[in-house]
Amino acid sequence: MSKIVVTGATGELGKLVVQHLLQRVPASEIAVSVRNVEKASAFADLGIEVRYGDFENPASMEQAFAGASKLLLISSPEDESISRVRKHVSAIESAKKAGVPHIVYTSFAFADVDAFAPLANVHLATEFALKTSGIPATVLRNTWYQELYINPNLQGYIDSGLIINSAGAGKINTATRDDLALATATVLVEDGHEDRVYELASSEAWSYDELADILSQVSGKKVAYQSVSDADSLKGMLGAGLPEGLVQFLVAIDSKMAAGTEGHTSKDLETLIGRKPTSILESITQLFNK
Ligand SMILES: NC(=O)c1ccc[n+]([C@@H]2O[C@H](COP(=O)([O-])OP(=O)(O)OC[C@H]3O[C@@H](n4cnc5c(N)ncnc54)[C@H](OP(=O)(O)O)[C@@H]3O)[C@@H](O)[C@H]2O)c1
Repeated sequence: MSKIVVTGATGELGKLVVQHLLQRVPASEIAVSVRNVEKASAFADLGIEVRYGDFENPASMEQAFAGASKLLLISSPEDESISRVRKHVSAIESAKKAGVPHIVYTSFAFADVDAFAPLANVHLATEFALKTSGIPATVLRNTWYQELYINPNLQGYIDSGLIINSAGAGKINTATRDDLALATATVLVEDGHEDRVYELASSEAWSYDELADILSQVSGKKVAYQSVSDADSLKGMLGAGLPEGLVQFLVAIDSKMAAGTEGHTSKDLETLIGRKPTSILESITQLFNK
């Protein structure tokens, strides 16, 4: 029997995609392709077929993708960019050899319009490889994960009453992994969607002034936002003990926000999930009500 095959299923997004798939199709119609079969034992317990497929082992992927009705190719995690592209291209080549009729790929939102270059280039290269393969594809351009911003820093902002960075009045578009996973599962179970590019982004973006207001609202304590230069922001975060690589990444995103390139919005996610995406206010309220 042909099955929906999901890569990256042991990761945060992939797990949620499988959960949403299980709401729509029987476990016997799902297979996961994972590099660590033991880590995927919970799927096997549910009746999902677990196959060994490593992005660094093309033969394993060809076997893991065999008989797929659709293949979800979840992009590989952080690594040197060319190596990521190589893994994605290798997965696409393996899918071609396995005769996969439709690939669904998780790209990066607005990758072709001023997006964060180190990430966008990897995804655009993969999108071109998909086109070149001739395999019908659906590109799901996922926006920034909201969870990147739902972290212990929020309590730090509340305690100090201050958020300081270099994002200025710029906005950022985020969506929860769960909403992105629901949209992905929808595309996987529905007919159609071939040769489409969806910008899986929220219909509204948010700024740090708005985040400060939300934190004031949920904590009952005044939180303000102060914008500083990239250099001062970098110094402040390093002074607070954050690792240098992370600090450079965060400052680069803030700088893009300030330049106005991270606030693009789209209705594609809302249309696919059939409701408004979970807002940053809802995510923070859920966190503080736990
Ligand atoms: N939009 C955003 O803000 C954002 C942020 C971060 C990442 N991303 C991208 O979105 C992807 C999914 O996000 P996530 O949160 O689910 O990431 P994640 O939790 O790190 O999951 C990554 C998945 O990739 C698998 N993987 C890693 N190397 C592999 C290999 N050589 N062969 C086969 N599978 C391999 C991992 O397997 P193991 O469980 O065995 O490690 C895991 O299942 C990431 O990989 C990254 O490309 C997007």
